[in-house]
Amino acid sequence: MAKRGAWEIFKNYVGFRKECLPKGGYGIHSPFVFDLYTNVIGINKSEPIFKAIEAYRKEMIKSDIGIIRKTIAENMNGGFRGELVKLKKLASVVAVPPHLGRLLYRLANHFKPKVMLELGTSVGISSLYIALANPEGYLYTIEGDEAVLGIAQKRFESFNVKNIKPICSTFETELPRLMDEVDKFDFVFIDGDHNGNKLLQYFDVIQNKLTDNSVVIVDDIRWSSDMEDSWNELIAKPEVTVSIDLFRCGILFFRGGIAKQHFKLRYGPY
Ligand SMILES: C[S@@+](CC[C@H](N)C(=O)[O-])C[C@H]1O[C@@H](n2cnc3c(N)ncnc32)[C@H](O)[C@@H]1O
Repeated sequence: MAKRGAWEIFKNYVGFRKECLPKGGYGIHSPFVFDLYTNVIGINKSEPIFKAIEAYRKEMIKSDIGIIRKTIAENMNGGFRGELVKLKKLASVVAVPPHLGRLLYRLANHFKPKVMLELGTSVGISSLYIALANPEGYLYTIEGDEAVLGIAQKRFESFNVKNIKPICSTFETELPRLMDEVDKFDFVFIDGDHNGNKLLQYFDVIQNKLTDNSVVIVDDIRWSSDMEDSWNELIAKPEVTVSIDLFRCGILFFRGGIAKQHFKLRYGPY
């Protein structure tokens, strides 16, 4: 389904703002979500590593270097094998924005997940935020474009990150294989193919390895109407006990013993 235009996103945001709870945590009647929102999500504390990651982004934004996409499956993500893409686009448009990177960092740092999974490495900006937040955890990150993953891998080396395993494969091929390798996923960041049906398919595979303490973050839940429909399907699943909609991304929890609740909360510049 086609990406929503700026006007449609804006109208969507106006609707979201009418429904969401105010900043500051007022009206959040779940102690778990109140604590998470006021002490983790909404905290705007700078960490020294943010500067280093953002310096890497700036370096790419300033460069005029282009790379030829080498997707390992021809039809992957709409099929852009052979396309020339500038690093500045990958760093400024494709990668998570700084405020989302900081959120990923804070969530990984707070929950200290042991086994982490990312769908969609690209040039590695979100991977760096996640892995560097939680050196005791181990991040599997999957990317189907060999050329962009090559850029990320070089940077992982220069950051001397030891807890990332970059995997060059499609999600469709690699996810079933990983299911045999890992016991569980404590933390999952889904930022790949922006296709609602695919999102549900990936979730169905991953679901078998989620535990009561797992956290799943889905990016671009309003990218298109089918992404939003699939997000709504995810939050309706009985195993999702708490869900938080932050407009751009959503967070899912699977904790037992609590009543199912959904929250729309403000985070970030929009
Ligand atoms: C939005 S980008 C990821 C951005 C990255 N998380 C960051 O913040 O820097 C999505 C990536 O997923 C990859 N991708 C999309 N569909 C895929 C698939 N089916 N299998 C493997 N990789 C895929 C694309 O090549 C692209 O690099």
